[in-house]
Amino acid sequence: MIPKNTKEIFRRFHFVSRIMFPAVVALIAGVSVSAGPVEDGYRLWLRYDPLPAEKVAAYRSHVTAVVVTGNSGTRAAIRRELVGACSGLLGRPVPATNEVNGAGALIVGTPKSSTIIAGLKLDQQLDALGPEGFLIRSVKIGSHPATVIASASDLGALYGTFHFLRLMQTLQPIDALNVSEKPRFGLRVLDHWDNLDGSIERGYAGRSLWNWSELPEKVDARLVDYARANASIGINGAVLNNVNSSAKSLTPDYLKKTVAIADALRPYGMRVYLVPRFSSPMELGGLKTADPLDPEVAAWWQAKADEIYQLIPDFGGFLVKASSEGQPGPLTYKRTHADGANMFAAALAPHGGVVMWRAFVYDAKPGSDRAGQAYDALQPFDGKFATNVLLQVKNGPLDFQPREPFHPLFGSMPQTPVMPELQITQEYLGQANHVAFLATMWREFFDSDTFAKGPGSTVAKVVDGSLFGQKLTGIAGVANTGSDRNWTGHPLAQANWFAFGRLAWNPGLSAKAIADEWGDMTFTHDRATAAEITRILLESREAVVDYMTPLGLAHIMNDPHYGPEPWGHPVPREDWNPVYHHRAAADGLGFERTAKGFNTVSQYHPPVRDRFADLATCPDEFLLWFHHVPWDYQMRSGRTLWDELCLRYQRGVDWTVKTRKDWAALAGKIDPERHAAVAEKLAIQERDAKWWRDACLLYFQTFSKCPFPDGMEKPRRTLDEIKALDGYGNAVKQKQ
Ligand code: GCU
Repeated sequence: MIPKNTKEIFRRFHFVSRIMFPAVVALIAGVSVSAGPVEDGYRLWLRYDPLPAEKVAAYRSHVTAVVVTGNSGTRAAIRRELVGACSGLLGRPVPATNEVNGAGALIVGTPKSSTIIAGLKLDQQLDALGPEGFLIRSVKIGSHPATVIASASDLGALYGTFHFLRLMQTLQPIDALNVSEKPRFGLRVLDHWDNLDGSIERGYAGRSLWNWSELPEKVDARLVDYARANASIGINGAVLNNVNSSAKSLTPDYLKKTVAIADALRPYGMRVYLVPRFSSPMELGGLKTADPLDPEVAAWWQAKADEIYQLIPDFGGFLVKASSEGQPGPLTYKRTHADGANMFAAALAPHGGVVMWRAFVYDAKPGSDRAGQAYDALQPFDGKFATNVLLQVKNGPLDFQPREPFHPLFGSMPQTPVMPELQITQEYLGQANHVAFLATMWREFFDSDTFAKGPGSTVAKVVDGSLFGQKLTGIAGVANTGSDRNWTGHPLAQANWFAFGRLAWNPGLSAKAIADEWGDMTFTHDRATAAEITRILLESREAVVDYMTPLGLAHIMNDPHYGPEPWGHPVPREDWNPVYHHRAAADGLGFERTAKGFNTVSQYHPPVRDRFADLATCPDEFLLWFHHVPWDYQMRSGRTLWDELCLRYQRGVDWTVKTRKDWAALAGKIDPERHAAVAEKLAIQERDAKWWRDACLLYFQTFSKCPFPDGMEKPRRTLDEIKALDGYGNAVKQKQ
């Protein structure tokens, strides 16, 4: 049964996207109704405009009718998507029918929902692919060539549907299909750091998509498009509220609002999760303690879990930030992280829910290495967590920097499901102003070899469960979505949402394959133009590293985490200050994490730790992460550290200058709306890259005392002038 309000959403979504929108555009433009829609980025990669004529000709006979029997919410969604997409892509109506009447039927469903699929006797293969896997086969039904998209569940059939559409959108052959797919991670979740007042922590694309004040009476039709986009890349869950949570989200009123969101997302296979505030039993229940070992506290959580599941039977579970950055947690009561996690686990277990316990914990311990603290705090608890707990660990040991080595907890918790937390929103990578395609960063992360069980023990194998045999697996991405019309602020940042989903489905995909798919679906089928967009995407993250934090530098951002501030600022904790992280001094630059310093490098398995610990073998990109290096140290390039540093910053700037020109040359090759929007962002990126270069190098020069090398453009402003800029690089109003 589709809930009433969800039906209403579908009705409105359909009306707005298929009828109203082109008509309004046509009116404004004064052209016929067949004119394409405004390219404001709203449609993401789900653009179903007519394909090039030769492809339409090739596809036409293979796609003549959509046969989806039965009426579950998901099946209705499949039918609607296929009819809309195929009609759009082929430029002529493709109807839904109940049976195969000729060549070219697309038959979608499960052995239970479709007698045709039942007749194909695919059950064994489908069972092997699991409930979310699917097969796509070119078959014959009687004498009629047809295509079957089959799964053991409706949701798998929906994923197969989007896979099939992606084949057409990327102009692949569809006449002899034999595809079988299943996701490598069980939980593929977006974490929304959304506050109940509609603001988003580290969100740069508008307000929250959940309009809490209007829910549950009014459910924004946009939620259906949000769910469609996620289903199209296999994302199957959303954590709705900020990790820095408010107890209010668990009140009966807010749970009703959550029910409305869950109803809207359900047909697309997305489960909802919440972040409980650890102190809720005190704040909401009036208890005197939130001690996880107190029976009354445990009973309070059990009752709360029961209440939630009564309302939302497929509720996913809890994501917990506890005893971290001032949040309440088990350590407040001298209990352990395992005690805290297991308390929630016990409350959720009877309902099949999971706990995603965050490992982003570090103490304000002066004189210690912040990057080593999560490992020290959590590794000893390997094997102590309940079976429905996953440890959610950021990709690197610090905090979503442009580049970090992999977190040493990956590969060090063989008895615990460890779930990577990636950040899609670009908190430290230029936010919604810089292009930074993150698939390359995530590829580097997945491919890192932990050596936990000898060579080949990559992070990908640790987290997909294959190395240590975990059945419960997951991956989370901190979302970059918001109420901006184009969802992500920067038009090219949509690629990061897409890439997260694609890698969550298959962490073996190459960054290039993902960029190619995305560009083809989102921008153009013109090969040369799409290749140029792919190239820009693939180069972009390294350029950001170059002009922000080259050679292993980290966390030298200002307070909004946007611009440079290596000179630091007053903060309550030394490890929140950039000077703590770069350690520039007359004798050199970098954080000594070998035995000569904090020895955090020892948290890695040999030979990884030996490679990082030895200056001679440590890769350039992690040099200053692990070593404090003299300014005149001779690098692999033959240059001194100082010269190399300067030229890396310059290389980053050069990329932004060149990319602006390259993008300008794409004028006329893609729609003017998005071309202009990206061009404006690239202009900001160039300005910011110069700000970064000048700020960092003028500041570091006060220690190195070395001249700028040839090949580096000299800063036009003084260090004092740069220090006077505000957090986004603008001149602060002069005193009168
Ligand atoms: C970063 C971020 C915070 C966030 C925290 C977390 O420090 O700046 O806004 O709350 O990570 O991941 O918990």
